[in-house]
Amino acid sequence: MSKIICYWSGTGNTEAIANKIKDDLGCEAVSVAGISAADASKFDLIILGCPSMGSEELESDEFEPFYKELMNLAKGKKFALFGSYGWGDGEWMRNWQEDLKSLGGNLVCEGLIVNGDDSAIDLNSYNAFISALK
Ligand SMILES: Cc1cc2nc3c(=O)[nH]c(=O)nc-3n(C[C@H](O)[C@H](O)[C@H](O)COP(=O)(O)O)c2cc1C
Repeated sequence: MSKIICYWSGTGNTEAIANKIKDDLGCEAVSVAGISAADASKFDLIILGCPSMGSEELESDEFEPFYKELMNLAKGKKFALFGSYGWGDGEWMRNWQEDLKSLGGNLVCEGLIVNGDDSAIDLNSYNAFISALK
């Protein structure tokens, strides 16, 4: 199964998580600035990373347009979601998962949320996430 990680990161936390997932899965990780939605849609499993921005929202300038275009092209594909957050409780991820399902994506596992950088990863959640993507 072909896999790709596509992420947006403002201060590097989501990028650090993306790179860890990349190392453990052995697939490519690219910033959404470096890949088109059309190219990303060709993979069987698309692993998307975006931190909580706005008010419990996806980043709106770069990530959201990429994501919306991708969902038009990749209906029925497999997806997994991850990202970093700060002061909230992960609401953005709950909303994002519902949105992805409503747009026809198949979630293969619970979204991975990390409060801060990759040093704050909960190992049980992380291992379950990686196992579901192998
Ligand atoms: C403009 C802005 C809005 C944010 N909004 C939220 C939010 O609604 N909820 C939350 O938990 N964290 C929020 N954060 C915190 C980020 O999610 C957190 O700093 C995260 O680690 C950033 O990830 P990154 O380094 O990949 O950009 C916000 C940060 C910024 C800069």
